[in-house]
Amino acid sequence: MAGEAQSWVLMATARAPTNIAVIKYWGKRDEALILPINDSISVTLDPDHLSATTTVAVSPSFKQDRMWLNGKEISLSGGRYQNCLREIRKRAGDVEDEKKGIRIKKEDWEKLHLHIASYNNFPTAAGLASSAAGFACLVFTLAKLMNVKDEHGDISAIARQGSGSACRSMYGGFVKWMMGNDADGSDSIAVQLASHTHWDDLVIIIAVVSSKQKETSSTTGMRESVETSPLLEYRAKTVVPGRVLQMEEAINSRDFASLARLTCADSNQFHAICLDTSPPIFYMNDTSHRIISLVERLNLSEGSLQVAYTFDAGPNAVLIAPNRKVAGLLLQRLLFQFPPPTDSELASYILGDKSILHEAG
Ligand code: ADP
Ligand code: DP6
Ligand code: CO
Repeated sequence: MAGEAQSWVLMATARAPTNIAVIKYWGKRDEALILPINDSISVTLDPDHLSATTTVAVSPSFKQDRMWLNGKEISLSGGRYQNCLREIRKRAGDVEDEKKGIRIKKEDWEKLHLHIASYNNFPTAAGLASSAAGFACLVFTLAKLMNVKDEHGDISAIARQGSGSACRSMYGGFVKWMMGNDADGSDSIAVQLASHTHWDDLVIIIAVVSSKQKETSSTTGMRESVETSPLLEYRAKTVVPGRVLQMEEAINSRDFASLARLTCADSNQFHAICLDTSPPIFYMNDTSHRIISLVERLNLSEGSLQVAYTFDAGPNAVLIAPNRKVAGLLLQRLLFQFPPPTDSELASYILGDKSILHEAG
């Protein structure tokens, strides 16, 4: 290893967007490798709005691997971070920075320590898939710094071992995560179904109901559903396979009514599974339910499916409109029912932990 002065630092930074599932992943058949019990489909959001930004630095002066998330140090001892670091280190290549006079041989990476800093520009652990953006970004940035070649979707499969949903954030547009059959997870990978330009009229609106950290993480919630929900197996084996085919067809043909019908039905079934879990898990709250009613009323009044809603493991709504005109109409209705708070209300929202959306009195 060059850089004998032991004073150098080499860094890489990258940004990765979050993704929102329109056919949900909920339940693992293998906890350690993160292998799911069903296929899932998601749409990757625009990184300008919801994304994680991660910087990884390496230096011979670092004594151990360390990580900071949103400015606070977190422990890297959890299996998921360790799995990602180990898998990337295994594939690391030679790296040379001529200007700085640094040469790292691939075998050196085992001895060098990393400092990682990541920042999410949206609420963390609140049901907006921060684990997806976070682990996709972590693995991508590590791979960039360590000169790891992406062979056969390796990088996406490593991100999957950080958080299942993260494997889908490696691609833009519509993405399918195939559950796979192999015991070692080699065929449990994400594939792009359509690029972001394929259906670029779609508008996605995120209504932040609460930015508070959820009480039950996705990992714990789905483990409890696997252990206790009698409905989960029925969903995974009988319902999802047909829905995945129909969703692929809807995406291919840009059939908004089908996309909306399947998206809403799948979100509702996922939350029904949460209710079927013992003890029941309530990710949605009253405000989430009111948003569902608002969209259902809008669709009914227009006589056709105008807007889709979907909620991940949290109370925040993701609303999909077919174009800007319908998105405008939706925003009008949302702002009518949930008018922006006054300055003094805003202060109490910031200090306290009230719902950000509140109903018109
Ligand atoms: P979410 O609905 O936001 O995905 P999860 O319960 O699935 O919530 O995961 C939240 C966890 O994901 C966090 O506690 C943290 O461990 C991890 N995470 C979130 N953001 C990042 C990030 N930027 N980098 C690394 N890990 C992250
Ligand atoms: C409801 O990927 O966060 O958002 O694999 O345990 O990290 P782990 O769980 P995670 O679960 C996401 C669940 C979901 C649906 C989805 O994104 O498909
Ligand atoms: Co998550």
